[in-house]
Amino acid sequence: MRNVYKLLFAAALLLSQTLFAQKDDTIRILAVGNGLSAEAVTRDLPGYFEAAGQKVVLAYAVRLSSDYAKQAELARSGAEGFSYSKLSGNGTWTEERKVSLAAALADEKWDIVSLQTQSAQAARRESIDPGLGQLLKFVRKRTPKSVRIMYFQTWPYANQSTKHWMAFGHNNVNMYPQIAATSKEFCEKYSLEVIPVGTAIRSLRTSFSMQGDITYGDHLNKTMGAYLCAATFFEAVTGLDARDYTDAYAPYTLENHVRREMAAKCAHYACLKPFEFTNMSSGTGTYGSVEAGLPNYDETLVPQYTLPDPLVMNDGSPVKGIEQWEGERREELLELFRSEVYGHSPARREGQHYKIVKEDPNAFGGMATRREVLIYFDSSEDRYIRLMTYVPNGLEGPAPAFLLLNTSGNASVNEDTNISYPDEHQLIQYEIHGFPYYGQYRHFYPLELILSRGYAFLTFFKSDCDPDFDDGFQNGIHPYIYKEGQTFPEPDQWGSISAWAWGMSRVMDYLEEGQTEVNAAKVSTIGHSRAGKTALWAAAQDTRFAMAISNCSGCSGAAIARRRYGQTVRQINTTFPQWFCRNYIKYMDNEDALPVDQHELVALIAPRPVYVGSAAGDRWADPKGEFLSLVHAQSVYAMYGYSGLPSDEWPDVRHPMIGDHMGYHIRLGRHSLTGYDWDRYLDFADIYLK
Ligand code: GCU
Repeated sequence: MRNVYKLLFAAALLLSQTLFAQKDDTIRILAVGNGLSAEAVTRDLPGYFEAAGQKVVLAYAVRLSSDYAKQAELARSGAEGFSYSKLSGNGTWTEERKVSLAAALADEKWDIVSLQTQSAQAARRESIDPGLGQLLKFVRKRTPKSVRIMYFQTWPYANQSTKHWMAFGHNNVNMYPQIAATSKEFCEKYSLEVIPVGTAIRSLRTSFSMQGDITYGDHLNKTMGAYLCAATFFEAVTGLDARDYTDAYAPYTLENHVRREMAAKCAHYACLKPFEFTNMSSGTGTYGSVEAGLPNYDETLVPQYTLPDPLVMNDGSPVKGIEQWEGERREELLELFRSEVYGHSPARREGQHYKIVKEDPNAFGGMATRREVLIYFDSSEDRYIRLMTYVPNGLEGPAPAFLLLNTSGNASVNEDTNISYPDEHQLIQYEIHGFPYYGQYRHFYPLELILSRGYAFLTFFKSDCDPDFDDGFQNGIHPYIYKEGQTFPEPDQWGSISAWAWGMSRVMDYLEEGQTEVNAAKVSTIGHSRAGKTALWAAAQDTRFAMAISNCSGCSGAAIARRRYGQTVRQINTTFPQWFCRNYIKYMDNEDALPVDQHELVALIAPRPVYVGSAAGDRWADPKGEFLSLVHAQSVYAMYGYSGLPSDEWPDVRHPMIGDHMGYHIRLGRHSLTGYDWDRYLDFADIYLK
């Protein structure tokens, strides 16, 4: 009889369990490992599940920096050595507490437990066992039979990462095969499923052109890295196609849909082939990947467009004259560029001050004095611009000057090894893009020529304000604009170009307040490429600059966006999301909706002289579009009585145009800043700065 009851009881239990299982479609996931596992489940993963309408209980039990051996040892000792937190129903994470692994395993009826070893060990097969075997035994004993145990595959580090690199020749390409082979071997050995984030990262690196990387050392960044990780985790766990949810899940950290789609695509292919990366690039070169749209280089395919008129107010009424232009329209235009393109910047900070830290009165055999001045942004002295100045010796009065944002560091400007380098805060940039050697880009900056023509040359490194890679606006001076508790810019707050332009204005503060050898009223901004965009934007906002020169500044610099020739708004936002405010994304494939175009950026410099330089071989930057910005800015110069260009016809190469407060040339050759360019700029400056 007893046996019958037992049997009946067992049958009832089974039935209720089946019913329960049918009713409860929540997936319960515990991520065991170290900090990388905690990041994986807490960042974008909850949002991904929510977008897919999949109920989930997520938790992590982690021991920082630990590998399988350490985790197994701790688990078996019963020590409360794991930090544990769980996503509760109301969307908040419970306060992290110290628990034993046994307690974490007992806290829920887990459907999935993921296991993760320390990221460097993930590439060393000999480090995996016996730790993993012991850990598995421990977990299996304490979880339902049906539990799925998954191997969380980590990723190769960022190139140049200083940690744990010796074995991989400082190259993530070398680290990947070992991670893949190790995870494959142990998944097979223990019949584990895999969460192939490492493979997805490897595919992304090879398929998608990014500036910088999606990892910092061993951590994924909070934008594309976090998204890709969530997409991979989600698909590996649910079997649902991660690509189907990129519209539904668009976190503010990754508003660019091209990037979301690419991340999900890499996740999807990694789930199909977890131990082999997939190259999805079109093979058309660094910037022309299919994902970002192939560039158009055919003039006949430039679409019809209508440019906004700089001399028409937002309400449609015409600007009546200089007074209204300066008093109202300029402000309107600046506001549009700020809120829709580059982002708003804050005012200068309290306590800004300056210190001259180096001086060499004998630079170039006595031709000039070289100084290094630290421009501290506030009294804390936490951050500063290291401005390098060369002022010609023996001039009668204060020198007119060029101020240039350099993109590889002051040391790259000249071979003089007395130039200080690197500063602590610059390391993050150098580690990602490489350390320059002294004078590496000296051909960009013919200092003796510039000095001999009676000009001072002032320069600083972009990364003093903001390192140039997509990190979700975490580094650099972005926080200067944040309110308390804010960690990410609002859609209309500054990207890197605004931050760099802000730095140029801080240099102008110094020129006005901290020295007398340079004539602060005779300073031209100048820059090449991204720094050319910055040179225009800095001068547009800060009228203390007497002139602006943009060299090969291209898309979002001098080139008309509506032409969609070469680089487009879509491409630039996709490859360089850090440069702009996030509102700019709205205009990808939607240039006609832009409330401004780049000729209005040029117009904002009026009535001050402006010069645009192009190169025939720099089609990516749309040389003709760069010229047309000048053409369409002329109406504003005309209001001041300046005739602008001598002709509206795009000139041939080597026929520079020096007009009235406007200059233009297109030279032979490629995307670069050459002696030929400088000759033209110096001739132009001689007219207006002397
Ligand atoms: C890339 C980018 C351009 C930019 C250039 C540079 O080519 O697409 O927009 O001007 O880099 O800064 O060198």
